Amino acid sequence: MAVIAVELAGRAYEVRIGGGLLANLATEAADFIRKDHICIVADENARRHLGEAIARSLADASVEARWFDVPSGEASKSWEGLARLTDWLLAQGVERGDHVFALGGGVVGDLTGFACAILKRGCGFVQLPTTLLAQVDSSVGGKTAINTPAGKNLIGAFHQPSLVLADLDALSTLPQRELRAGYAEVLKYGVLGDREFFDWLEDHASGVLSLDSRSPEEAVARSVSAKARIVAMDERETSGARALLNLGHTFGHALEAETGFGDRLLHGEAVALGMVLAARYSARRGLIALSEADRVTHAVDAAGLPAEISSLGMQCDGSVLTAHMLHDKKMDAGTLPFILLNAIGAAFVDHEVDLSEVAAFLDEQLQAH
Ligand code: GLY
Repeated sequence: MAVIAVELAGRAYEVRIGGGLLANLATEAADFIRKDHICIVADENARRHLGEAIARSLADASVEARWFDVPSGEASKSWEGLARLTDWLLAQGVERGDHVFALGGGVVGDLTGFACAILKRGCGFVQLPTTLLAQVDSSVGGKTAINTPAGKNLIGAFHQPSLVLADLDALSTLPQRELRAGYAEVLKYGVLGDREFFDWLEDHASGVLSLDSRSPEEAVARSVSAKARIVAMDERETSGARALLNLGHTFGHALEAETGFGDRLLHGEAVALGMVLAARYSARRGLIALSEADRVTHAVDAAGLPAEISSLGMQCDGSVLTAHMLHDKKMDAGTLPFILLNAIGAAFVDHEVDLSEVAAFLDEQLQAH
């Protein structure tokens, strides 16, 4: 098992990464169980696969599991979903000193985290991420939110969990496509800040994706270490350090918006394509060699992720995509920060990007191949 500390003054917590953590939940999370029951907010699929083992571990410790099921999918991150969840938590008598458990991917983690941020002005919560994406990204760092008709994650709060248990056994319950989508965020840590990790991933992608021996633990632990370091430096995304985690997300957001934020292009797939575009745009600006951008493309393609926007079959031009970018919540004083590359492993925030130049670049990409 790997244990990574997120060093935040007064709110430090551990991320534990390994097998069998959920089957031993009562022991692993003993410090955060103070009653004869706990409330578990669960993605319906995660509960189907993992609920029994969790309930058994708790029953052995004479703790009752009380479940709140959340339908899979972004639609659950709504005002209605939040109201239902907070009403249920209040009915269960959750107090400020209690911890609510979130079992599932980013949807359940974001929704539960936000509910816990506002329940009685804040109660504790424990993240039990079951998707690769949630294990390496959304369960760590305290960003919580719901969606509204105006956009994704526009209503939320920073609220750190007290513990994250990333059980690698849960990954074997995921469809391959979802695993690959999560892998995009793993690759992101290499591209943005750790060239050596990127090199390692070039050799170990298939081991990670086939959940082979120790590769997944190494990949998740190195990703979480990177995220923990960045979050400790810039918890509220004010200094620019945390903004680097948005590599691939500005281009990716535009692609998700154009494809309807759904199954046609999963978030991780959009991030993968967005990273390729950020690397190619960096090459076009003369910041990196084209061969470096090609390495990023190859790493994305080798993981079975989409690497060419022309493959999405979108009937739009570049200016439609840049218009989507203007609705991005990362807009700051009228400018849109782009994460670009000075090298693989050396990303930076550029506030001066000319959107008409980006639109022209996207026109070329839409027509290529
Ligand atoms: N997912 C980006 C962040 O946590 O900052």
